[in-house]
Amino acid sequence: MRILAFNGSPRSRGNTSAIIASVLEGARSRGVDTKEIRLHDISLKGCMGCLSCRKKPGVCNQKDDLSPYLEEIKECVGMVVGCPIYMYRISGQMKLFVDRLYSLYANKPGGGYYSMVPPGKTYGLVISQGATDPNQYVRSIRYLEGMSGTGLGMIMKGKIVHADAGTRPAREDDSLLRNAFDLGCNMAEAIQIAISEERPEGLKRA
Ligand SMILES: Cc1cc2nc3c(=O)[nH]c(=O)nc-3n(C[C@H](O)[C@H](O)[C@H](O)COP(=O)(O)O)c2cc1C
Repeated sequence: MRILAFNGSPRSRGNTSAIIASVLEGARSRGVDTKEIRLHDISLKGCMGCLSCRKKPGVCNQKDDLSPYLEEIKECVGMVVGCPIYMYRISGQMKLFVDRLYSLYANKPGGGYYSMVPPGKTYGLVISQGATDPNQYVRSIRYLEGMSGTGLGMIMKGKIVHADAGTRPAREDDSLLRNAFDLGCNMAEAIQIAISEERPEGLKRA
């Protein structure tokens, strides 16, 4: 029973990493195990466009360090996705991850997609950016939230947008880190309630 956190920043001591660390600390303080996957530090390949996941939904034919975690997304109790804004969009490391999530979507006859992930997992999003306006990149943020969370049937528990990173490093912002810790607590509490009520399918199996 663990929360997986996918970190799209290459900086292990950067803002995204500090915020994710607080989210996971909050979850652990409420008894839920966590695992952070730093996408920059694993051998991560891009989608090779083989489309084998159209014939065999839920299975990615690209084999690398991400493979076991793509499998674990189906079994985990929650997911945190954290990413810096690069050139108005998500980082390249995160885009490789998002493309590989295509394997977790199955084509729906007539159009659209089914999620191959059991529904009801908790989801938290972390963004760090240099721009001062937290709404500046809403479209990129909504895209990431949809592709890696809600589109897969996960339930959004909270979003942290760290703006003005150049003058307000996350590590020095107690209120930001407290919000991140609280998000982790909320995710863990939602998981405990779902398990105690034996719902939903995705959480029961964990
Ligand atoms: C290659 C690159 C591109 C960036 N592009 C943007 C951008 O378009 N908008 C923005 O607000 N910040 C941009 N930034 C600033 C980062 O989003 C910001 O420094 C963030 O806090 C980095 O996160 P990290 O500390 O977790 O690595 C960029 C930084 C880099 C290295």
